[in-house]
Amino acid sequence: MDLSHKVAIVTGSARGIGREIALKLAEVGATVVVTATTSAEPVAEEIREMKRPSLAVPADVSLVADVAALVDAVVANYGRVDILVNNAGIARDQLLMRMSDEDWDKVLNVNLKSVFLCTRAVLRPMMKQRWGRIISISSVVGIVGNPGQANYSSAKAGIIGFTKTIAREVGSRGITVNAIAPGFIDTRMTQQLAEEQRQELMKRIPLGFLGTARDVAEAVAFLASEEARYITAQVLRVDGGMAGV
Ligand SMILES: NC(=O)c1ccc[n+]([C@@H]2O[C@H](COP(=O)([O-])OP(=O)(O)OC[C@H]3O[C@@H](n4cnc5c(N)ncnc54)[C@H](O)[C@@H]3O)[C@@H](O)[C@H]2O)c1
Repeated sequence: MDLSHKVAIVTGSARGIGREIALKLAEVGATVVVTATTSAEPVAEEIREMKRPSLAVPADVSLVADVAALVDAVVANYGRVDILVNNAGIARDQLLMRMSDEDWDKVLNVNLKSVFLCTRAVLRPMMKQRWGRIISISSVVGIVGNPGQANYSSAKAGIIGFTKTIAREVGSRGITVNAIAPGFIDTRMTQQLAEEQRQELMKRIPLGFLGTARDVAEAVAFLASEEARYITAQVLRVDGGMAGV
């Protein structure tokens, strides 16, 4: 796998899964633009220490002006955009009866509208290059549902429909569009679970352990590579078999 001479944008890459994706892409040679609402500069610094070029651009990817400024900055600095990883996401869990309009809108905007805005913004340079990779981080809950996550699971299911449609729209231009649906990944969120909840979760995972951010990053790097050139419109579950369908 060799991504030298490729320029990647990873949204929400200040920490967690996004940070790991950024580091993995850099490891296989890519120039990586990291971006988040909080400062992603420490991650850009880590990548530069790996002797790869990197740039941190602060952006709220649910806002059209921030996304335009982000893509403009990437094109101005590197002259191209080859890989977009739509990773930024948030959760605001609540049973539907108690879910506020604000929590619905916020989760849909950050998890789904951002995917529309960022993908639309990179299509022009990718079409010119006749090469591109768009990879969006969905979730198994977008496939199987989860009580308390009507907003989140709707956004993650929306990413799947979006992926399949855009794959059809841009396939003839050498651009592949795929989604990854992680299951339970060992992050700050899952580390806060009580031991009992953790054990309950394990029973639902055929492989019997939580995934890591690195497991997701490996799948992203593969889909971004030349080796995956004939794979598009796919939803790749990285879930230890949890969704089971
Ligand atoms: N952790 C899991 O178990 C799990 C499972 C399935 C899917 N996912 C998905 O993976 C992705 C990453 O999850 P994580 O666990 O690393 O989350 P995290 O909360 O650790 O990191 C999220 C990142 O997104 C950034 N972000 C949030 N709102 C943003 C916005 N409006 N604009 C730009 N950046 C923004 C944050 O600054 C942060 O860098 C999310 O899309 C999440 O839904 C996570």
